[in-house]
Amino acid sequence: MSGIAHPLRGPIVAPSILSADFTRLGDALRIIDPALDWVHCDIMDYHFVPNLTFGPLVVAAARRVTLAFLDVHLMVEQPEKMLRAFRDAGADQITVHLEACEDPRAVLAAVRETGARAGLAIKPNTALSAAEKCFKHIDLLLVMTVEPGFGGQAFMPAMMDKVSAARAARDSGAGSFLIEVDGGIGPGTAATARAAGADVFVAGNAVFAQAEPAAALAGLRSEIGA
Ligand code: DX5
Ligand code: ZN
Repeated sequence: MSGIAHPLRGPIVAPSILSADFTRLGDALRIIDPALDWVHCDIMDYHFVPNLTFGPLVVAAARRVTLAFLDVHLMVEQPEKMLRAFRDAGADQITVHLEACEDPRAVLAAVRETGARAGLAIKPNTALSAAEKCFKHIDLLLVMTVEPGFGGQAFMPAMMDKVSAARAARDSGAGSFLIEVDGGIGPGTAATARAAGADVFVAGNAVFAQAEPAAALAGLRSEIGA
């Protein structure tokens, strides 16, 4: 599936399937409204982060059951080697980590060459200034609000300075990227990140670990004004 007019401006909730029940992934994805939400796919390789998740096969399975925008977050070393496989699996956007790229602008250009939108992620200890030289070459800047590797961690409010600085840079013409936050986003922290200027809100446990995931997703949408 592909081809719906997904929203490419915020505010957007991007539920992370990392927290979904993989025996019932299709059911989990059915709560997503493809006209409002994205689906966030967390790819981990046990090298860049101390955890291992899934690869293109699962992204392709998600692609078969949802029309939603597939937002693929690569927490891997040498991401340039995997771009084509994830694009072929149906990724609409591929985000690479600045810390994993020797030549970030070349990798971002390679993402765009596949036809996917290009995202750039920074870990909590990476300064926003390290990403500045890429601002003209990205469609999305992902400001991690936890140390990447695991769902269910506590939101780091100190990252909001980076979000507001990125928003100010964009407002003054530095680029035309969306600003995404990922990690510990839920009731309360979503509003905090929205106030700081974020556009896209990844939420794993706050959606899929809830008794009523559809209601939890609706609550988050309303909290950020989506
Ligand atoms: C963390 C991942 C996140 C994770 C978020 O390394 O990048 O996308 O799924 O999970 P929550 O929302 O539970 O913090
Ligand atoms: Zn993520």
